Amino acid sequence: MKRNRTEKPKSGKASGSPSHASEEEIRRAVRNRYAKLAQSGQSCCDGNASCSCGSIYPQATISTLPDDAIAVSAGCGNPTAIASLRPGMTVVDFGSGGGIDAFLAAKKVGPEGRVYGIDATHEMVLRARRTANESGFENVEFRLGEIEHVPLDAEVADVVISNCVINLSPDKKQVFREAFRILKPGGRIAVSDIVLLNELPDEIRKDLAAWSGCVSGAVSEEEYLGAIEGAGFEKVKVEDRFVYRHEQLSGYLKETDLSEDPRLKGVDLSQLVASYRITAMKPAGRKT
Ligand SMILES: C[S@@+](CC[C@H](N)C(=O)[O-])C[C@H]1O[C@@H](n2cnc3c(N)ncnc32)[C@H](O)[C@@H]1O
Repeated sequence: MKRNRTEKPKSGKASGSPSHASEEEIRRAVRNRYAKLAQSGQSCCDGNASCSCGSIYPQATISTLPDDAIAVSAGCGNPTAIASLRPGMTVVDFGSGGGIDAFLAAKKVGPEGRVYGIDATHEMVLRARRTANESGFENVEFRLGEIEHVPLDAEVADVVISNCVINLSPDKKQVFREAFRILKPGGRIAVSDIVLLNELPDEIRKDLAAWSGCVSGAVSEEEYLGAIEGAGFEKVKVEDRFVYRHEQLSGYLKETDLSEDPRLKGVDLSQLVASYRITAMKPAGRKT
């Protein structure tokens, strides 16, 4: 799909942070939510109406992955499918969670390649490391860290992938600057993420649990692609997108108090957000 800048929230305003929450409160809420997921293993693969691994990843792909990674997967797309990974490459997964995409990447880059998963939630990192050990992935390493300050040297990566994570960051521009820094010249990003199509109802926009649930931190296509370009990337391309229906967005809000909120009764939640798959390239001649 060609890049299309015409759709944006009706107000022209991107979704701001919940009015009462500081950046640190947002980060804490995000870590708490994914720590619980890491410990419980109740992921979108467990029959949640909003998504399912079966609809995100082909069944043949799922069957090659450790059950433990599938059990905590929480993505909204399949970034390795658009990443053109080849044997020997170095890949960094921003917000690797239980490791599902890192493990997929590890299979594609093979023993000569290397995959680094970066995640800010200690419990997720521990769980992903355990899965890697138990399943014998020797070319994958999970590091605790924020994607705004990636614990890796400059120009180490051929590809940065990410699945439903950058929407959670209170500083998306800094995330793309970090991706640019750690990529080799000519390196690429391939991300799946939630993008805002129309303004969210105030009750959702201001809700901290809706932020950690990958809804209210989403920004417009214009702002998202602008952050990628602003970091220095070229050939920014929306590969495809999937617009959420009412039931699908409701599914994302299932774990928040909003699912029972009388103010949202009868409110149409269709066409407010979409899952995008986006690629871009660090210019071949550009050093960090
Ligand atoms: C929705 S889950 C997606 C996990 C994984 N990508 C997947 O597809 O299953 C979001 C993950 O990103 C991590 N995360 C959120 N914000 C982050 C940040 N600023 N830096 C690093 N990790 C972050 C969370 O801890 C969580 O594991």
